[in-house]
Amino acid sequence: MLGLFEKKEHRLVINAQKSLVLKHKETILNGALRNDVKFPHSCKVGGCGTCKCRLISGKVKELTDKSYLLSKQEIAENYILACQSTPKSDVVIELPNWDKNDNGVAGYISGIEPLTHNISEVIVSLDDHIHYKPGQYTSVQTLDTDIPARCYSFAHKHTLDEDKKTSFFVRAVPEGHMSTWLIDPMNIGAKVKLSAASGDFYLRDQATPVLCVVGGSGLAPIIAVLEEAINSNSAIIDQPLTLLMGVRSQRDIYYQEHIKNLGVLWKNDFHFIPVLSDEPIDSDWSGQRGMVTEYINEKNCHYGTGYLCGPPAMLDAAMKKMQVSGMESHRIFFDKFLDQSGSS
Ligand code: FES
Repeated sequence: MLGLFEKKEHRLVINAQKSLVLKHKETILNGALRNDVKFPHSCKVGGCGTCKCRLISGKVKELTDKSYLLSKQEIAENYILACQSTPKSDVVIELPNWDKNDNGVAGYISGIEPLTHNISEVIVSLDDHIHYKPGQYTSVQTLDTDIPARCYSFAHKHTLDEDKKTSFFVRAVPEGHMSTWLIDPMNIGAKVKLSAASGDFYLRDQATPVLCVVGGSGLAPIIAVLEEAINSNSAIIDQPLTLLMGVRSQRDIYYQEHIKNLGVLWKNDFHFIPVLSDEPIDSDWSGQRGMVTEYINEKNCHYGTGYLCGPPAMLDAAMKKMQVSGMESHRIFFDKFLDQSGSS
């Protein structure tokens, strides 16, 4: 009988600035979007982490296991996934980097540069400057189709921003409507809109050795972070750096010239190590083979800082190895890319 008198609606307060009412069993994200709140999101199914926020007070029911996406520290700090949380009481949340007035910036696709057989750099010319920290991502929306918006990381520090341009590395995902649309040359000139930048993956000025681990199109935010380090003369460019790129075969390696140039500008040792997991045994490849995690060790981890971007399974394995190799968890920063979310 008690159920008859349970409160069916709950109040949601965001950053002490926005208050709204959620329907019975409605997720925080759906309720926020229904009320026209610009809430960062992408997959809406608990797969990308874009909607993470901190529960300040109140109780929620969590529909899926968040430990796959959130770090131990984030879980300890009460972070939840808004798309997977339905309130059991009135709730107050904190949404990092939330700009409730930001309407995004419109522009058009002005170039598509193939980087590998399935990754292209998509260049967008914008109507106005967009502000972001190198390493962050934005939600890309087409303006003339009903393809759902997807998240992509900015591929560079904004040296291009002077021209109101930016770019993304887009991997063609089978069945991925947005990725196939973005890399289709027929769409050069098509209109898009970028949301306000999101994400907590960006340069930390910690003067420790650096280990970067990337997979797939995860190179984009790493390039942006390294460019930022060099351009800002950060303390980390006086430290040794190892960049491990985990890919299947030689044809998946890309941006080597650009990485080489970054290495020249780096003031300490700079090691770029592609690791191929599926290269034919009789090929002419004389570099590293195996899983990228095999090349994470005490030498490149001890007292170091880690930056990781790529598929979740690779990142989870890499983070585990980094921690057992002496890297402290609070010095590990990551951005998990999911094909379905388009966060790639
Ligand atoms: Fe919530 Fe992707 S939008 S996890």
